[in-house]
Amino acid sequence: MLRRLYHEQPASFAFTPANLEWAKGQITKYPEGRQASAVIPLLWRAQEQEGWLSKPAIEYVASMLGMANIRVLEVATFYFMFQLQPVGSVANIQICGTTSCMICGAEDLVSVCKELIAPTPHTVSADGKFSWEEVECLGACANAPMAQIGKDYYEDLTPAVLRGLIARFREGEVPQPGSQNGRYSSEPLNNLTSLKDHQGTGAKYNGSVQRALDIGETVKRIDGTEVPLNLSWLRNRGAAAPVAEAAPAKAAAADAAPSVAPATATPATVGRKPEGLAEARDGKADNLKEIEGIGPAMEKLCHELGFFHYDQIAAWSEEEIAWVDENLKGFKGRVTRDKWVAQAKLIVAEGLEAFRIRAKTNDY
Ligand code: FES
Repeated sequence: MLRRLYHEQPASFAFTPANLEWAKGQITKYPEGRQASAVIPLLWRAQEQEGWLSKPAIEYVASMLGMANIRVLEVATFYFMFQLQPVGSVANIQICGTTSCMICGAEDLVSVCKELIAPTPHTVSADGKFSWEEVECLGACANAPMAQIGKDYYEDLTPAVLRGLIARFREGEVPQPGSQNGRYSSEPLNNLTSLKDHQGTGAKYNGSVQRALDIGETVKRIDGTEVPLNLSWLRNRGAAAPVAEAAPAKAAAADAAPSVAPATATPATVGRKPEGLAEARDGKADNLKEIEGIGPAMEKLCHELGFFHYDQIAAWSEEEIAWVDENLKGFKGRVTRDKWVAQAKLIVAEGLEAFRIRAKTNDY
């Protein structure tokens, strides 16, 4: 399936204050200069907040992590768990269409979805509550055919059972997940001769199903308020936990991603500070975002440090690179890692058009 951005996009995206605090906590898990490692958790959180991943959300995460937009887009389009179009407000029903499920009736389940939700996958139902899609094997082949609905699996499905499940979800219920034909797990349906122990325990459901029932939030999306933020790794490091900042204004989301500098950060003395400018020459800064690795947040940081032009960056010495690398707050080491100076030199020497062609193959 072709995975691309949806044809209609919202104007902006911003994390809620609770999700913003959570996201900043996640970023602190990784060493300086490796904040990009948080890309999947942050994208997932953005999806949980909105239901799907919009272009502004992808760019917001890119900005927050100091990554090029295209790098985050690559992640979002690669993993099928990321929804690139709006989904139903209650659930996006994922029907497994791989071998076991297909043999056992997945096509009939898809027919139910087409009838009750929408004729085509990735289309929101008329009441806005559901969408559906066919997915690859979800690893419950012994209980085929099955579907993932929200966080849980619904197994041993028939068209009639799936109809009933959709009706109950539509009414706001959370039906019991797991096997729908009375199986405890994935044992034979009749005439057990071994592994019968659970029958003597009185347990009606297996551990996974019981846990899902106890939690009772199969289709509830994470909104940042469920679990207190656990920053124990910071305590182990002896660093202070980051303090939540106000969420960036929605209208300027892409440029307003928050700093993730820990509260205890002290001015670095590594290297030598390059000469900066108080403002851009002739009031017109170069578009530093042309340089691979510089996003809106990083460009803003460069301006704060007095760097507005390609020729400034192209002229940095090793000592100056070390200083800038050390002073990029939450993005330490990016100058060296992304070869800013080599890129800037190329732009200065050959112009933007030539640079863009060579940048496609990282030829700098
Ligand atoms: S084939 Fe459907 S879960 Fe594996």
